[in-house]
Amino acid sequence: MTNRTFTMLKPDAVENGHIGAILDKINAAGFKIVAMKYTQLSKRDAQAFYAVHSERPFYGELVDFMSRGPIVAAILEKDNAVEDFRALIGATNPAEAADGTIRKMFATSLGENAVHGSDSDENAAIEGAFHFAGREIF
Ligand code: CMP
Repeated sequence: MTNRTFTMLKPDAVENGHIGAILDKINAAGFKIVAMKYTQLSKRDAQAFYAVHSERPFYGELVDFMSRGPIVAAILEKDNAVEDFRALIGATNPAEAADGTIRKMFATSLGENAVHGSDSDENAAIEGAFHFAGREIF
């Protein structure tokens, strides 16, 4: 079934000049970009986006990282989008990510892992709505 996922190219990927290469891989894998913006999360935005992790020891580090520079946020459409996108990006820790995955190719560390992918259809909808108004989705 065609459905949607939400992604962010994180500040490390942008700083390291990987926006174009990562978007190429996303296109080549058959995802259609239905919404996209270049933006920066405030500290408060990052706290809210990652509220589910607020009790984790890495929460402060995660919020500082995700708000330190611009990101690319996008909504992607494809059959089986959530699962297929998570396969394309690879394991959270780039050291454990399979060859050819985006995190294996472009991530720097467990914390600075280049790209976000929603973990469920429900979260994809919540995360997409966090970043985009209906008129920004095509
Ligand atoms: P992601 O799965 O996109 O969303 C949660 C993020 O928290 C994860 O990517 C990592 O960037 C970060 N993260 C997860 N585990 C750790 C950890 N042990 N230390 C630092 N950051 C982490």
